[in-house]
Amino acid sequence: MIEKAKIRDGASIQNVINTHAKEGKMLQRSILEIYETIRDFFVYREKGKVLGVTALSICWEDLAEIRSVAVLKSESGKGIGDKLLKASFKEAKKLGIKKVFVLTYIPEYFKKYGFKNVDKSTLPHKIWKDCVKCPKFPDCGEVPMVKKI
Ligand SMILES: CC(C)(COP(=O)(O)OP(=O)(O)OC[C@H]1O[C@@H](n2cnc3c(N)ncnc32)[C@H](O)[C@@H]1OP(=O)(O)O)[C@@H](O)C(=O)NCCC(=O)NCCS
Repeated sequence: MIEKAKIRDGASIQNVINTHAKEGKMLQRSILEIYETIRDFFVYREKGKVLGVTALSICWEDLAEIRSVAVLKSESGKGIGDKLLKASFKEAKKLGIKKVFVLTYIPEYFKKYGFKNVDKSTLPHKIWKDCVKCPKFPDCGEVPMVKKI
């Protein structure tokens, strides 16, 4: 059910992300951004339909970001988020990445997976390339968290 995304999944991925983004729960993604980073994405597919998504985006030799973890509201609480996160951790391990991080509004959720709060300044400046484009910058309230792989 968990697969690497195909290019044809672009619009479905955007739909899952943007339903939550409209409510301010996560950053919106343009279709261009999604196509450009399609190789980062995992999708959870059932009967051909994309129900959940996430992306593992490499930042540095030892660091990757877990981005855009989102599940359709109608499918929440069924373990789809769990499977997506675990697929990202597995891929990070396979690549030899030592740490993954998230910027999140729901730190309690990520705490359960072993993520720990860190100071923003401990993450490479490169990661703020998205932040500067965001209308909420610099006071977005997202919590930076890191997990060892
Ligand atoms: C967070 C999200 C990805 C979880 O996906 P899911 O498939 O519903 O999650 P699972 O079924 O695997 O896990 C459910 C568990 O997560 C917990 N959980 C879900 N949302 C949570 C939240 N906002 N805060 C804390 N815990 C949360 C549930 O309480 C449940 O816990 P339990 O297993 O102890 O009962 C999904 O709710 C979602 O898309 N949220 C909106 C987008 C978002 O905020 N993404 C995070 C961006 S950094």
